[in-house]
Amino acid sequence: MKIYAHRGCSGTHPENTLAAFSAAAELPVYGVELDVHLTKDERVVVIHDEKINRTTNGKGYVKDMTLEELQSFDAGSWFSEEWAGETIPTLGEVLDIFQETPHRLNIEIKSDVFPYDTLVDKVANSAAKRGMSDRILISSFNHEDVLKAVRETEIESAILTSQIYVDVYDYARVIGTNRIHVSLPAAFRRMTTDALRKGAIVYVYTVNNEEYAEQLQGIGVHGIFTDFPERMINKFQ
Ligand code: G3P
Ligand code: CA
Repeated sequence: MKIYAHRGCSGTHPENTLAAFSAAAELPVYGVELDVHLTKDERVVVIHDEKINRTTNGKGYVKDMTLEELQSFDAGSWFSEEWAGETIPTLGEVLDIFQETPHRLNIEIKSDVFPYDTLVDKVANSAAKRGMSDRILISSFNHEDVLKAVRETEIESAILTSQIYVDVYDYARVIGTNRIHVSLPAAFRRMTTDALRKGAIVYVYTVNNEEYAEQLQGIGVHGIFTDFPERMINKFQ
């Protein structure tokens, strides 16, 4: 079972920061997951929420601020003073960390609230410019717009879902992928074992509990996203 470091090594470092990604780059983990949004001046930045309130000392929407404004906030001390001075990274800064490593990168396009029409193209161009397109997987909860746009690029895609479908594999095929990233509760529903039997590649988020990881390995899941990759790689990868 493959292990993805979720938002970098986010159990031990502030999520989606260069500190969290540099720690993941040192691990023999299969892949690293990250979330992207677009700034007011159309730069791709790595952060989970639409707002910066939870993970920085600032307030407001990412889409309403320039990169310079966003990077003036501290994205580390909310987690621990040890990481004071971390900032919200650009996608380019994160890709540069992994340019010479073997890791795969799962870039989640956070387009559930704001459409960010140019985001997929910008992500695809950043990856292509660095010769990394074949190591990138784009996922999104926005299947209609985002994953449709990914089909126009050379990058692989995966549907993200916490919902239960009658036939999630057939649904994913219509969207244009055989990759399904399901939430932990959905992973234990029949739709997941049906999809695996039909040939889907299934990854499960977010799995920090080793007993659940063992059960998922038992049903033949291909991989998990975890905030504690250092712990999971020893046991499961
Ligand atoms: O990509 C898996 C997982 O990251 C999706 O949920 O909310 O952690 O971005 P979330
Ligand atoms: Ca994510």
